[in-house]
Order: sequence, then C-alpha cells, then structure tokens
Amino acid sequence: MADVAVLSKRGSDRIVIDDDWPGYSVDLFSHPAHYSGDLDSVIVPHGVIMDRTERLARNIMDDLGDHDIVVLCVLKGGYQFCADLVDKIKALSRNSSRTIPMRVHFIRLKSYMNDQSTEDLHIVGAEDLTFLAGKNVLIVEAIVGTGKTMKTLLKHVEGFRPKMIKVAGLLVKRLPHNTACLPDYIGFEIPNRFVVGYALDYNEYFRDLNHICVISENAKMKYKI
Ligand code: HPA
Ligand code: MG
Repeated sequence: MADVAVLSKRGSDRIVIDDDWPGYSVDLFSHPAHYSGDLDSVIVPHGVIMDRTERLARNIMDDLGDHDIVVLCVLKGGYQFCADLVDKIKALSRNSSRTIPMRVHFIRLKSYMNDQSTEDLHIVGAEDLTFLAGKNVLIVEAIVGTGKTMKTLLKHVEGFRPKMIKVAGLLVKRLPHNTACLPDYIGFEIPNRFVVGYALDYNEYFRDLNHICVISENAKMKYKI
C-alpha cells in the first residue's frame, strides 16, 4: 500500500519555476558566442539540470529497479536528457546490488515549425516495437507542452502490449489544458514560453547550448523559416 501511495504522488514532484521568475542574466554563464543577443535569460542552468536528473534517476530506480527496462528516447530534443538520465541510472546500478539491465531505443517525433506546434505529428522509428511486449518501458521526453504528443505516443506504445509504461519528462509547460496527461517523473514545471538549449531547438538552432534558456523575440525572427 505504501508503494502505491508513493507512486501516485510522484507525478506531482517537480521543481516549479514561477511565471514571474526573470531567470538569470545570460552573461553570468558561459555560452557559445554565436548565440550572443539571441537569448533573454537562462531559466535552468546546466548544473541544476544535472542535479535534478540525478534525483529522477533515483526515483526511477526505486520504482522500476527490479525489472529490465527498455528506454524509449524521443528524438531529437530528448537525446541529451536521455543520455544524462541513462548515465545517472548506470551510476546507481554499478554502485548498488540492485541493478537494472537497460536497453535504449530511439524514436523521432516532429511537430514544431518555428515556435508553433503543427497538426501533423510524425513518428519515425516506431513502426515495429513488438520487442516491447511484456517489458517495462520508460519513455524519455525533453518537454511536454500540450500533452498531445505524449498522448499519441502512449497510445501507440500501448498497442505493443508492454508490461508497464512510465514517462520521464525533463520539462512540463504550465498550460491550462495539459493536466490530463503528465509524465510520471518531472524535472521542472516551467512557464508557457518557448525555451531552447540542452538539445531543445528552434528550427534546429540552439541544440548546442548547455543551459535551458528563453529565446529572444529578435532570435525568433533571425532564425525563422
Ligand atoms: N522549445 C523547444 N521545443 C519545444 C518547445 C519549446 O519550448 N515546446 C515544445 N517543443
Ligand atoms: Mg524541435
């Protein structure tokens, strides 16, 4: 019973970044010079992302640590979070008598053009997921906005009859309508602003930035397609 209570509470554990949090000045941190003037603020510095990820890894290990896991990394935005999360789980595994054999599989979703979500969601690499049958699946996403993508993906994965599906999302945007479908493990709840960095892009730019930052209006015009 205690386990059930802990599991159902997990989805509400997150670091909340308020709407009126101005973030840190970009000049207080190292960042690539080619993005000078393109960023309004740093809202989550890289070190904080890493510390939070370490804790999410422990929560995941506590909940799933007695079965094999198939990690389903949602590209492209999820590659950095997934790599770091898997690293942290591996570190826990090699320092404990409880270890999880892990497999990592990659799928790609694309639904954004400029800073707008488009209607058509493409899933690539998810055609044959029959190997998920009977497995514990951990879907790893960088960001959950409307929750529409997550819902579509969950429905798709459920079709392959895994034993259990959990979702880890580094960021959840605070929107009035996304409460129905939230990840089981959440890093940060953030304001409804377009963010970049740590593999999150704006038209493929900014993946090569370590911190999670708010993009400037100027940069939205500069990199528009
Ligand atoms: N930034 C980058 N990619 C995204 C975002 C965002 O804020 N929301 C959904 N995909
Ligand atoms: Mg993108």
